[in-house]
Amino acid sequence: MGNEAQNLREQILRLVGQYSRAAFPVADFLPESTSIPVAGRCFDEADIQSLVDASLDFWLTTGRYAADFERDMARFVGAAHAVLVNSGSSANLLALSCLTSPKLKERALKAGDEVITVAAGFPTTVNPIIQNGLVPVFVDISLPGYNVSVEQLEQACTRKTKAVVLAHTLGNPFDLKRVAKFTKDHGLWLIEDCCDALGSLYQGRRVGTFGDLSTFSFYPAHHITMGEGGCVCTSQEELRRLLESFRDWGRDCRCAPGHDNHCKNRFGRQLGELPFGYDHKYTYSHIGYNLKATDMQAAVGFSQLKKLPGFIEARRQNFETIRLGLEDLAGYFLMPEETPGSVPSWFGFPLTIRDEAPFGRNELLGFLEEHRIATRLLFGGNLIRQPAYRNIEHRVVSNLEVSDRVMMKAFWIGVHPGLTAPMIDYMIEMFHRAPEALEASDARAKTGKP
Ligand SMILES: Cc1ncc(COP(=O)(O)O)c(C=O)c1O
Repeated sequence: MGNEAQNLREQILRLVGQYSRAAFPVADFLPESTSIPVAGRCFDEADIQSLVDASLDFWLTTGRYAADFERDMARFVGAAHAVLVNSGSSANLLALSCLTSPKLKERALKAGDEVITVAAGFPTTVNPIIQNGLVPVFVDISLPGYNVSVEQLEQACTRKTKAVVLAHTLGNPFDLKRVAKFTKDHGLWLIEDCCDALGSLYQGRRVGTFGDLSTFSFYPAHHITMGEGGCVCTSQEELRRLLESFRDWGRDCRCAPGHDNHCKNRFGRQLGELPFGYDHKYTYSHIGYNLKATDMQAAVGFSQLKKLPGFIEARRQNFETIRLGLEDLAGYFLMPEETPGSVPSWFGFPLTIRDEAPFGRNELLGFLEEHRIATRLLFGGNLIRQPAYRNIEHRVVSNLEVSDRVMMKAFWIGVHPGLTAPMIDYMIEMFHRAPEALEASDARAKTGKP
């Protein structure tokens, strides 16, 4: 780049910093008026500068920022490789699809094979199983951890079982010791969906390093964001190659986008029945996708990653403050508990309303939303009750009683780093006001008096 261009770039980035401070000032919290979201982008001028820097390159597709992000992300997680994609859902699709590669020989997943997962989860944790012609086998979860009921895994396992795909619900690691032992004993693949659990620790090690593959999401609600984005981590070189092939159209060539002939043998190969020397760039070894992210997305992720340790700490502290603040309401709510041996990087604060509580979930969530406190359900609840899953081929182990209970009674509130102490105090206060306010409105409804 010439001097003039370099000087202009520096000026632009300085101005962007100035713009970002002017455009996004920290607003005061006004109870009843400022909304308290469950999650949201936490960003600063460095993120916007990084985005603009990538835009000025006008490389557009996956480029230098993607390479830097993949290196730093792998390092943070403690995996050998990170493969950047355009969403957490794409990461799940890619992770499972790469296991269907014929290159894995007898270990490859084949149509009709069974994959164990939980019924109470996020849809795109499960969907790749169906999309690849495999059969999901649903097991229940347990409370108060909201994770797989490990006792049901043995019951779910048959000759056809080939893999286990599980998410660390709302950041709380599932029992990795027992699940990893189960998959090892039975020779099964393990995919950890860490989309909600970036930075969670289990026995001192980051989640995402226990399974063969792990997936992450960088949607704005998540621990770090790039708008839309995700990645798959693995420490197995063979799987990394498969991930890159399936991500990049199914091609055999491993040159980065916009680069050619790194192997110096682009026109010198004999592959299958292709004419000798057929361009390696247009040689396909898999039925692939294009799931790449742009370098603008990667640039935001690269800058966000530097703030991740602080974000995780803030999430943990917010979770603890809420836990302490709601402790005396345990007669109404089942309080969440982390899996023994884990230090979660919480995504949200889950609560299940007890049967004895004098209010229903809809009334409570209505009350909270009226007071500008956002809530979310635990994703799709028991997924097999969702219209999309009505006709899928599947098996179910147990009566999925807890998944149903969670579908009817659970919800979660935010713990994200954008929450301030006054916001959390206000949330806690509103939870304390809710039972009385809802009882009073219930009584009014019964007597018909205003
Ligand atoms: C557990 C889990 N897996 C996968 C996803 C999908 O991620 P994305 O929204 O980036 O596609 C989500 C989304 O929140 C999720 O919570």
